[in-house]
Amino acid sequence: MIPVCEPTLEGNELKYVTDCIKSGWISSAGKYIEEFEKAFSKFCNAKYGIACSNGTAALHLALESLGIKKGDEVIIPSFTMIATANAVIYTGAKPVLIDSENETWNMDVSKIEEKITKNTKAIIVVHIYGHPIDMDVVLKIAKKYNLFVIEDAAEAHGAEYKGKRVGSIGDIGCFSFYGNKILTTGEGGMVVTNSEKLAERAKLLRNHAFGMPRFIHNELGFNYRLTNVQAAIGLAQTERADYLVNRRRENAKFYNSLLKDIPGIITPIEKSWAKNVYWMYSILIDEKKFGMNKNQVMEALKAKGIETRSFFLPMHKQPVYAKNDDRFPDINGKYPVSESLFERGLYLPSGSSLTKEQIKTVADALKSLRT
Ligand SMILES: Cc1ncc(COP(=O)(O)O)c(C=O)c1O
Repeated sequence: MIPVCEPTLEGNELKYVTDCIKSGWISSAGKYIEEFEKAFSKFCNAKYGIACSNGTAALHLALESLGIKKGDEVIIPSFTMIATANAVIYTGAKPVLIDSENETWNMDVSKIEEKITKNTKAIIVVHIYGHPIDMDVVLKIAKKYNLFVIEDAAEAHGAEYKGKRVGSIGDIGCFSFYGNKILTTGEGGMVVTNSEKLAERAKLLRNHAFGMPRFIHNELGFNYRLTNVQAAIGLAQTERADYLVNRRRENAKFYNSLLKDIPGIITPIEKSWAKNVYWMYSILIDEKKFGMNKNQVMEALKAKGIETRSFFLPMHKQPVYAKNDDRFPDINGKYPVSESLFERGLYLPSGSSLTKEQIKTVADALKSLRT
């Protein structure tokens, strides 16, 4: 089986984890946490990094640090992983959905303004599958309506918008280090920001909002701490971040060259202002031209030992949000592009350790399916 993704742990991961175990520093104190925060925030060109237990926690921390609460509205794309919407719901605020655009599959920035109300407090942009969104447009709208911008960069470590690393362009950026991410700690996350005030708040809320003296709590905090063992892996991963990102880009280039002439396969793009990091190498299947639909392609590839994943089911189609609860997003709106992406999209094996031979096997298998 060629897996859809597997971690690449070829640097100092084992050495640093062994150090944690030998020294006994395996919980959420220890030198690797700060070292990882420093190294990863530097990689993002952000002043501060606050490590936490996962990417969902990073989003929740970011929203709480900005003071988002019940009664507020937060704009998000309909086409994202459900954590983006759930994190908003955890604060008591309501996610407001925007459809995608066809080229980069990111939130359609031309549709943001029509959804802004007096309750709108923030926009969460998601750099979907590693391609940055057009941040200048988002920042301009945010300035006009006095909104915060949160970057959900869970899938976009090292991606760049007009030469700037994503995560550090808005008010606050959120990363995931889940096992399939370009940099991984198994489970893990980080909030990055250039604001000292936001960094302080995120740090406080991450750890139960401990006050002084200890065990006096003046506000509602969370346990969103990362362990030293996870941070040890994260530091080793960050030391090789450029390599891991480049491998994703090289894989995508090779896939593109092999798939570009197959009718019915639409390959991912890279805008002139963007550095796409191709977290997952994603394609769309045009059923009429290819002769099979997405689900049939996935099944046929599976039979040939090739693992794939479907695109995200858009938020307005999620069964959980069909329940009558006024915290949930409006499921009756029209988001046709995100629906069509879900119907056509899948991702192919994409890990940083993938070999050229494996990529060629996948491309040949796809070619052989065309009827
Ligand atoms: C866009 C997006 N946001 C948030 C998350 C949540 O990250 P985690 O799984 O680390 O909680 C993911 C994760 O997979 C994601 O793809």
